[in-house]
Amino acid sequence: MYVCLCYQVTDRDIYRAVEEEGITSLAQLAEKMSVGRCCGCCAEYAERLIAQANGSRLQKV
Ligand code: FES
Repeated sequence: MYVCLCYQVTDRDIYRAVEEEGITSLAQLAEKMSVGRCCGCCAEYAERLIAQANGSRLQKV
């Protein structure tokens, strides 16, 4: 599912960025994929996904 329509970033892309690159904040995600840098509509949801993905990553360790 698309999270950021402006930059065509999906929830899977965000989960992968957390898993493979250790993304922990919206600022880091924006740096990598520009999420939230255009209209900003996606920022809140993207932040929630990052937190959620980091939670599940920590549980796997
Ligand atoms: S939907 Fe992500 S910046 Fe517009």
